[in-house]
Amino acid sequence: MAIQSSEHIWHNGKLIPWDDAKIHIMSHVVNYGSSVFEGVRCYAPPAGPAIFRAPEHAQRLLDSAKIYRIEHSYSADNIVQAMVDVVGSNGIWPCYIRPLIFRGYGGVGVNPEGCPTEVYIANYSWGKYLGKGNPEDGVDVCVSSWSRLAPNTMPTMAKSGANYMNSQLIKMEAIANGFVEGIALDVNGFVSEGSGENLFLVKGDALLTAPLGNSVLPGITRDCVLKLARDLGITVREQMIPREMLYIADEVFFTGTAAEITPIGSVDRITVANGKAGAITKKLQAEFYGIVNGKVEDRHGWFTPVPVKKPHLAFSS
Ligand SMILES: Cc1ncc(COP(=O)(O)O)c(C=O)c1O
Repeated sequence: MAIQSSEHIWHNGKLIPWDDAKIHIMSHVVNYGSSVFEGVRCYAPPAGPAIFRAPEHAQRLLDSAKIYRIEHSYSADNIVQAMVDVVGSNGIWPCYIRPLIFRGYGGVGVNPEGCPTEVYIANYSWGKYLGKGNPEDGVDVCVSSWSRLAPNTMPTMAKSGANYMNSQLIKMEAIANGFVEGIALDVNGFVSEGSGENLFLVKGDALLTAPLGNSVLPGITRDCVLKLARDLGITVREQMIPREMLYIADEVFFTGTAAEITPIGSVDRITVANGKAGAITKKLQAEFYGIVNGKVEDRHGWFTPVPVKKPHLAFSS
């Protein structure tokens, strides 16, 4: 999908023109994949633009940098403020926000010594990621022939650019075979996650998702769904999920900042129930979309409001 540029990008504490956000091809990140990043949504509830779970995204960004020993001088509060500044100054919402920390241009070796840390935050208009728009319709997915990253190889708790080489393999294979998305198993054959989403399933009256030990990203939408399910009195279990449970589940859905809550209609062409969102998925969607659209009270304090500095620019999504 083509990117719609905005006016400014935040770079190391300053707003710079979009077209000036350039790097040298010999930057460490280009050669060795040394970046960590976030994907964040800013919604447009009636009270005005508001960034969803900004402190949690900022903290995960810093955690990812810490895992990879990428040094920088920013706190989570600094990152939240920078996201607010860039959205407010560009006048684009709802939007997607992309904070990035990477090793820049300096040395040439794998050892990043001498490479400066660069921090950028961009925002741009972006619509639905999976499916065609009706939140009840299930998407068709497959189990990938690619496994998720093995423990103690590439850390999956870090949202690093390099991890997304694995995600690209999963996604491209799924699309080549006529599916919308792929589900990866971990190296032991247990369900892990999608190329860019966590996965939940309903079996009986319990909502299940893989624990972090099954090579999943600690998703922020995953955390929302766990909290909302507990609020609704739904039994929740983080447990290892065998592949075949996907085929006999009552409901299966993806969660993610991009995917939000997307029902899965079939796995490997085996239909999940009637191929549409099931009862528990619908209840969770009603709460989640209610909160992000400003129709249900933000009782967990998930929004960070953006003071408006520039008139709103409308973009098509
Ligand atoms: C591999 C992977 N898993 C899970 C997720 C969902 O995480 P979140 O809900 O924080 O967007 C994402 C998206 O960021 C992802 O890329």
